[in-house]
Amino acid sequence: MAIRVGIVGTGGISRAHHRAYTSVDGFEIVAVCDIFREKALQAAENWDVPKKHVFTSYNKMLEMDEIDTVSVCTYNQAHRRPTVAALNAGKHVFCEKPMAATLADATAMVRAAKASGKILQIGVKSAFSPSIQFSKKVIAEGILGGIYYSESANCRRRGTPGRTFIYKKTAGAGAIVDIGIYNLHNSLYVMGYPKPVRVSAITEDYISLQDPRFKDKMDVEEFGAAWVRFENGGVMVFKISWAVHQNSLGGSFCLGKNAGISLSGPIMYADSYNKELQKLVESEGLTAIPDPPEGMTTIRFEGLPKVDVWNAQMTAFRDAVLEDGFSTLPPEGVLLTNVIMDGIFRSHKTKKEVAVRVPEI
Ligand SMILES: NC(=O)c1ccc[n+]([C@@H]2O[C@H](COP(=O)([O-])OP(=O)(O)OC[C@H]3O[C@@H](n4cnc5c(N)ncnc54)[C@H](O)[C@@H]3O)[C@@H](O)[C@H]2O)c1
Repeated sequence: MAIRVGIVGTGGISRAHHRAYTSVDGFEIVAVCDIFREKALQAAENWDVPKKHVFTSYNKMLEMDEIDTVSVCTYNQAHRRPTVAALNAGKHVFCEKPMAATLADATAMVRAAKASGKILQIGVKSAFSPSIQFSKKVIAEGILGGIYYSESANCRRRGTPGRTFIYKKTAGAGAIVDIGIYNLHNSLYVMGYPKPVRVSAITEDYISLQDPRFKDKMDVEEFGAAWVRFENGGVMVFKISWAVHQNSLGGSFCLGKNAGISLSGPIMYADSYNKELQKLVESEGLTAIPDPPEGMTTIRFEGLPKVDVWNAQMTAFRDAVLEDGFSTLPPEGVLLTNVIMDGIFRSHKTKKEVAVRVPEI
């Protein structure tokens, strides 16, 4: 029998959820909810959901026994309540990224998932890209040696999104929670979720506020940069922006004692193409192209599969639900992004490095 889904929030991203649920075998959308009835009705019509399963209250929707899982597609400030209510009602939850706008909200969500024993998966879709998955394997095999430094960066030269994304009331924060979540999460994920202990950061908002579309409206940051210390002694530099006078803030990479890896590609930098890496490359059916072939080596990997990350994340969610297993992206791991973001905002406010603490779950 198909996994029956109720969707909360029928704005922009719910359409991508619908596409993914209908592309991956094993799901059926059976109910929709939005605080604006017209929006919910329109979605129901588009997706062949009966009118009697259209709701303006997620609590009412959760009374339906015929719902197994809930997709939370509301803006960031409204992730916690439907997620916790759905988990408490015994439903599995797929919640859009970021996990939440605040550390308190994210912590409540992870605690509810643990207490309910249900799956909580956060939509950090780029974690399912072949380059991130392969980088994770290379690092887990110990091929880099201990990682002592990493950078996690991305920017849009101009790309402030507008809509509900620019208000604290709806989004909670700006570029850091909107696109920074991907970078933060994926760097932590490939490194095995090291525990952050200290953060020093700034967040700024100069360029968007000169734009008449955002002036006097936007109250979230467009830029953030942070220096994050981990319990294991490693450091990560994080940089993100919706708008900046640069084309690039650098990419994301990890430096280990024996080799380094750039997460896009991925491309590995080492002194030699070692046997463990050779074994891993062969077991994955890839080709490694050392360049130059001897001495100091740059290795590009060929043959990584083409993956639709939307379908990949929904497939992982389905498998976790059906096998009553664990999410590929454990919520306790994703929670670390909120621990760091909370440190970033506190550090910016106090203009000091701050201690961060991972909450007990
Ligand atoms: N994965 C991605 O590629 C991606 C892309 C864009 C947005 N997102 C994320 O998706 C989420 C939503 O973004 P969006 O662009 O769809 O926003 P949106 O503002 O278009 O849609 C949000 C919808 O939620 C509804 N809503 C708010 N509170 C509600 C509640 N309590 N109950 C029911 N409905 C409620 C709103 O009425 C609105 O229709 C955000 O968290 C965002 O970060 C993810």
